[in-house]
Amino acid sequence: VKRFLDLADLTRQDVLDLLALASRLERAPEPEALKGKILALLFFNPSLRTLASFQAGMARLGGTTFVISPGQGTWILETRDGVVMDGAAAEHVREAIPVLASYADALGIRSFAGGADLAADLADETFLQMAEVCPVPLVNLESAVNHPCQALGDWKTMDDLEIPANGGRFVLSWAWHPKALPLAVPAAAVHMAALRGMEVTVLRPEGFALPEPILDKARRAAALSGGSVVETSDRSAAMAGAHVVYAKSWTAPSAYGDPAAESALRSTLRDWCVDESWFAPARPDCKFMHCLPVRRNVVVQDEVLDGPRSVVVAEARNRMWAQMAVLHRLLRSERGER
Ligand code: CP
Repeated sequence: VKRFLDLADLTRQDVLDLLALASRLERAPEPEALKGKILALLFFNPSLRTLASFQAGMARLGGTTFVISPGQGTWILETRDGVVMDGAAAEHVREAIPVLASYADALGIRSFAGGADLAADLADETFLQMAEVCPVPLVNLESAVNHPCQALGDWKTMDDLEIPANGGRFVLSWAWHPKALPLAVPAAAVHMAALRGMEVTVLRPEGFALPEPILDKARRAAALSGGSVVETSDRSAAMAGAHVVYAKSWTAPSAYGDPAAESALRSTLRDWCVDESWFAPARPDCKFMHCLPVRRNVVVQDEVLDGPRSVVVAEARNRMWAQMAVLHRLLRSERGER
């Protein structure tokens, strides 16, 4: 069964082929490509872009979708193995996922990090347990440490903007946020930029270094693609000559699962809000990227988000073309077609 769970499962050429297909579908609609196909979307967590772009993309290819949000009109689902189900959950994913798959040709699952156990989240345990019981093509709609659909759309956005792959300077910057946020987007973004062959700098305050497995994976991708990955807390040095700054908050790994300690670490960092002054050492045409949703004047100032640097709406739109390419490849090739 074909799957789209992690950009790292694909070769760089596979990714380039998907991006070419995404651009082709953007230029030349194929309204019958997935006629009669059904995509089931299982969302354990909220969404605007992922939900709407999968529904719109599937419709543009002639297919249909149905959406299940456990606990909102449907049974609360248990994801843990081996538990006594005498609480709120009436049904286990071990039954629910095969049942949903039996109605559909492919399934997408969104399941965020538990946020309590860093090792379990880094291993993507909950998502991979669900993947094991899914008998149809599966798409990762964001798991504990991955968001491959976001990564593919972001890569396309940089291609569209002609931001250089090899030699392009990509800054992934931590930003302040009132909540401790998951590692999925920063992990996917740093790997994507490294696989694209870019010179990647992770800019973050002391105490917020990305976990070593995430950096290792990005460095391995960089080694394959001629890119590089470094970390710093020096904003001026990081931003020097940057083509792109990608802002995202993430939880401090050293205080993972301890909200009070994590909050204390973040309490002095409110100035990690991207404003125009950040761009002084960057290239004049340096772009601002963010996966959205974003909190205005918390993560980034209005002056940046409303200015010419911001490409956040293009990123969101490119999610749709990129995901259409993924669905086209998963479902058309099931019938032996390219
Ligand atoms: N970027 C992203 O995945 O957006 P949603 O959470 O709205 O789907």
